[in-house]
Parts: sequence; structure tokens; C-alpha cells
Amino acid sequence: MVVPGLGATSVLTSLGLFGSGIWMIPLLLSTYYRYDRVDPESKPIDQQNLLPEYDFIIIGGGSAGAVVANRLTENPKHSVLLIEAGPDENEVTDVPSFSAYLQLSNFDYAYKTTPQSRACLGMVNNRCNWPRGKVLGGSSVLNYMVYVRGNKNDFDHWGNLGNPGWDYKSVLPYFLKSEDNRNPYLARSPYHATGGYLTVQEAPWHTPLVAAFVEAGTELGYENRDINSDKQSGYMIAQGTIRRGSRCSTGKAFVRPIRLRPNFHLALNAFVTKIEIDPTTKRAWGVEFVRHNRKQVIRARREVILSAGALNSPQILMLSGIGPRDHLQAMGIPIIKDLPVGNNLMDHLGFGGLTFIVDKPVAILQNKLPAAAATTAYVLNESGNGGLEGIAFVNTIYANQTLDWPDIQFHMAPASINSDGGAQVWKILGLKPEVYKEMWAPLHDTYTWTIMPLLLRPKSRGWVRLQSKNPFVPPLMNPNYFDDPLDMLTMIDGAKIALRTAAAKVFKQFGTRLYQKPLPPCKHLPFLSDEYLECGIRTVSMTIYHQSGTAKMGPPSDPEAVVDPRLRVYGIKGLRVIDASIMPQVVSGNTNAAVIMIGEKGADLVKEDWR
Ligand SMILES: Cc1cc2nc3c(=O)[nH]c(=O)nc-3n(C[C@H](O)[C@H](O)[C@H](O)COP(=O)(O)OP(=O)(O)OC[C@H]3O[C@@H](n4cnc5c(N)ncnc54)[C@H](O)[C@@H]3O)c2cc1C
Ligand SMILES: *[C@@H]1O[C@H](CO)[C@@H](O)[C@H](O)[C@H]1NC(C)=O
Ligand SMILES: *[C@@H]1O[C@H](CO)[C@@H](O)[C@H](O)[C@H]1NC(C)=O
Repeated sequence: MVVPGLGATSVLTSLGLFGSGIWMIPLLLSTYYRYDRVDPESKPIDQQNLLPEYDFIIIGGGSAGAVVANRLTENPKHSVLLIEAGPDENEVTDVPSFSAYLQLSNFDYAYKTTPQSRACLGMVNNRCNWPRGKVLGGSSVLNYMVYVRGNKNDFDHWGNLGNPGWDYKSVLPYFLKSEDNRNPYLARSPYHATGGYLTVQEAPWHTPLVAAFVEAGTELGYENRDINSDKQSGYMIAQGTIRRGSRCSTGKAFVRPIRLRPNFHLALNAFVTKIEIDPTTKRAWGVEFVRHNRKQVIRARREVILSAGALNSPQILMLSGIGPRDHLQAMGIPIIKDLPVGNNLMDHLGFGGLTFIVDKPVAILQNKLPAAAATTAYVLNESGNGGLEGIAFVNTIYANQTLDWPDIQFHMAPASINSDGGAQVWKILGLKPEVYKEMWAPLHDTYTWTIMPLLLRPKSRGWVRLQSKNPFVPPLMNPNYFDDPLDMLTMIDGAKIALRTAAAKVFKQFGTRLYQKPLPPCKHLPFLSDEYLECGIRTVSMTIYHQSGTAKMGPPSDPEAVVDPRLRVYGIKGLRVIDASIMPQVVSGNTNAAVIMIGEKGADLVKEDWR
């Protein structure tokens, strides 16, 4: 989901990201306020003099890796090195409303899918953009900060697949362990906790549209509920990983507080090229990486822990000789273990083409934010979910109505693709210029908002493979969106529920109506017919960046499993994967919270095994 926050292209340029100008003023002010208000903790220490050997080496300091580093170093007897390809985050990444501007910057790997035949058809070369964080905190530094855990049934399903210890009852304590919820009404609930490292709260400020959104849900028969409890169907105002208006990345939450632990070293700007594995004993004994143009190898006495995310973890495994035999042979990489690495790739895809117009200035519109003062208020107050205000979980006609296991999620934003006046959002989506110009450029001065329906449990599966033996060349990534026809049918019905939501009585007060212009490639189809919606979904396919599943967790009997339920790579000693890759089925919700839970639980498994 891409939402234009406060687009300040010029500010970001002057800070090394983009341009220059009056937008500087609000940014500087907001920076000042944040330092005054927030987080006295200092920056992490980027260790230059590394030891030749550590007990544990963690590859990747993202959502999961940051948590693992924190928990393993709780035991002073364990020495830990965390290797992260990117730098530390900065003042810009702190500001929630700048989220969209971090994409395509130096903090982003700026990946793209392979050309798709059934989706991403409105994007240049039919390729969807896949941003990933190259920075301490990983994708939690680029993300929209929405805090959603997934459905109780997701975890019970993981357990039923033969993964003891991953059912809902077993994982709930790990969600609670991380959490410091700052909303008293939530903190009192048995499903939330205070005192953890990760700050969670509702945005301090939001537009009137989101209250209407929640009320519209009740008109449709859905409850207004905490969807992070044991029931999920319903509408609510989003909770976010934010700390007093600033982004709470996992770098900030989990790594900054431990920067002075003597058993902890952090190496930033260090790019891992290979895990060293003894081909005879099949034991992972070290990690090779490039830092300041110099190749180094550091030994791991006990374990190497791979937390490079669902795209780079499979890449690093394959580069190290663990992967599908035929593929490694074709790439000329000596095989250490034949495993289905890179299969089972899943993502959450949404439809970004439902634009609703309002007559009142209740939505975000960059062209109509006049003075610097207003902008400042906005930067400070909008702070929350990067502009993403409402969340809902609904059941299409294809969902099992006796279970509380919705198949569609809504993201509601008080803005649409046009709302930043064409500054950034269409570019980060990779939209074809002609599609953007015809469809959204006419709305540059119009207040609009959107509901994006998202497919929660896709049946389609994609893959990650190497494009080159060169570790600096990105892998090939094919999500195979809409390979299974049920995925499209579910999305079409989801889009209809979104249209019914926006047609609710409560939205009349703003003069809400659907933007009636048909999407350019779909003009020949009857407007809003199933065929039209299908065409629209294939055209404005918007990923919400929940890539997962590429080093699947499963029992030995599962031919697609790469790691066992203790997250150990099958057939290799001293090597685990702990990140979004291990999800056997993607959770029904945004993935950051579940990945942090995987980090918490994974670290406990490691500690148990080395007690
Ligand atoms: C733009 C965007 C918006 C999102 N919005 C939300 C949201 O609102 N809510 C939500 O819940 N989820 C959201 N997500 C998804 C969520 O952030 C991810 O699922 C989660 O961060 C993944 O965690 P991870 O630990 O698996 O991988 P990452 O967090 O991506 O961590 C991987 C880390 O490994 C490092 N790494 C990779 N390769 C190497 C290498 N060779 N050497 C050294 N280090 C390496 C990377 O630099 C990175 O720091 C969003 C994601 C994106 C990209
Ligand atoms: C910002 O939000 C606070 C409430 O959190 C409110 O009191 C204040 O008036 C808002 N400021 C502006 C300029 O909107
Ligand atoms: C729906 O779920 C219930 C409970 O698990 C199950 O008994 C039933 O068979 C399911 N119905 C369908 C149509 O799958």
C-alpha cells in the first residue's frame, strides 16, 4: 500500500535524498520537536574492529534480526555479531509521513518482480516495484508502521501442518513480550502488554474519514473491534509501531538499547556474500562479507543465523550451496544440500484503483497545504501510520462463514494515488506514465481517499532464484500473482465489499462518491462489472510488500520444507533461518508484527538449544 504522506521532495533532496526549498522549514521543526520529545537513546555503535570469531553471527539487522541480536546478547556468555548491509536510520526515516519518500532512496534495494502476465499490467514493463529496507531495522524502516498480528487461525494452521510450538496459544506470549502499548484501553486487554521494547499505539491524530470508515463497517454488519485480539472480522482505526509520533523501527526498539552490551558487536555497511559451510561435516562455520571494499571471513563458534528477509535469505542460501539441485548446477555452484529454497513465495496484493472523491477538505491533498505552518502541524500531527488510517477484515462469498478467518483485508487511506500532485507515489508504484496521466492527473486538485482490498491467503505461489552467481546482483523474483483463479474471484468480491463500504450512509456527509472514470486499459468493459473489476485489479495491482515463505518451516515429511520447527536448516549443522522466509503460509495481516514474533520465538529456540 502506498499512501502519500506529506510529500516534501525538496526537503529530502537537501538531506541527501532529493531537492531543496521551503519544505525544509517543517522538516527542521519536526526534527527539533522529536528530539525534544522522544527517545533519548543514542545511535548504535558501528564496530570497526571485529573479532575473528563470535558464538553467533546474525546476517541482517531487519525486523527479525534486530530482535534476535537483542535476545541472544541477554546472556552475557554469548558473544554476538550482527552484520547489516545498510547504514543506521536518520532524521528522515523517523518521520512517519515521509514513508513513501524512503523508497527509491539509498535505503531501498529497489527490487522489481519479473514481468507478470496476470498482474502489474499498469506498471512499466508489467513489473511491480518491490522496495526492501537496506538499513538497520530493515524493512521496518521503510514500512507504513501498521501493527497487525494476523489471525488466530493462521498460527493454529501452522501448528496443524506439523510445527509444534507455533499454534496461537504458544505464539501469543511472544507477541506480548515485545509490546509496549501506549493506549490505556488496549494495554488493559489480555491481548496486549506494556513494558516491551516495541512501542505500539494509535496515531495521535487522524482525519474524520476514518471514524466514518469504522461506522460504515457497522452499517455492513461488522463490529468495531481490536482486530489484534482473538477475533478478527471487523473495522478499526489502525494501530502503529510508533513512539510519540516517530517511527519505531526494530533498530530503534531492539538494537539501540543494547549498544553498550560488551558481548555485542554490530557491523554496518557490511554485505554478506556467502555462508561458509564445511562440505564434509555440513557445518556452517563462518560468514563471508564485503565491507569498505574489503572481503572478510569471520568464524561462528556455535551458529550462523540468517535473517536477511524473504528475498535475500534464499539468495544467500543458494549462493552458499543450499538450494534446488538443478538450479545450483545450472548456476555452477557446488551443491552442499539439495533443498526447495526459494519456493513457496507469497505476497499480499491489493487493488489500488478505487478512488473516492469528497467535497469537503477532509482528505490529504498536497497542493492545498498552503503555508509552512500548516505543513509543520501536519508533519507533527499526521504522524502515525504513514497516512494509513483504517483497517478492516471482511469475509467474501468464498470465505468459510463459520470460522472467523476473513479472506480480505482493507487498507483505508485519506488520500489516493493523485494526492501528492504527481510528485512521488506513482513513481514508487512504477505506474506507466500514460496510465497515471490519463487516470489520476485530472485529480491533482481534488480531495480523494481510497479503500484498498487485499487478498489475505493467496493460493498462488511464486519463487526466488539466482540471476547470477554475483551476490551483488539481485535475485530473480516471480510472485506468480493470480496464478490460481480463486485468488482473482476473491479479489473481485473484496472490491465489491469495498464499494459497499464507501456507499454507506455515513459517508454522505462528505459528499463521497466513486471517481467514475474507467481505468484506461479497461474502458471497453461495462463499468464496475466483474470483468471490469478483474481488468482493474490486474492493472493497478498494488503490493503491500509482505513477501514471505521462501525457506518454509515444516516437519521432515514436508517435501517443501527448508527449516524444521526449530528453524534449523535441514541437513546443515549450525545454521538457522529466522525471518519472514519461514512462514509456511503468510499470516492474514501485515507481516511486521509476526516477523518480530518469529524473532522472539526463534531467539528462544536458540537459547534453549545452547543452555
Ligand atoms: C514499503 C513497505 C511497507 C510495509 N508496510 C508494512 C506495514 O505497514 N505493516 C507491517 O506489518 N508490515 C509492513 N511491511 C512489511 C514488513 O516491514 C516486513 O514483512 C518485515 O520488515 C520483514 O522483516 P524481515 O526481518 O523478514 O526482513 P527485513 O526487515 O527486510 O530485514 C532484512 C535485513 O537483512 C539485510 N540484508 C539483506 N541482504 C543482506 C546481505 N547480503 N548482507 C547483509 N545484510 C543483508 C537487509 O539490509 C535488511 O536490513 C512493509 C514493507 C515495505 C517494504
Ligand atoms: C495536533 O494534535 C493535537 C492532539 O494530539 C492537537 O491538540 C493539536 O491542536 C493539533 N495541532 C494542529 C496544528 O493541528
Ligand atoms: C468451515 O469450517 C468448519 C470448521 O472448521 C468446517 O467444519 C467446515 O467443513 C468448513 N466449511 C467449508 C465449506 O469448508
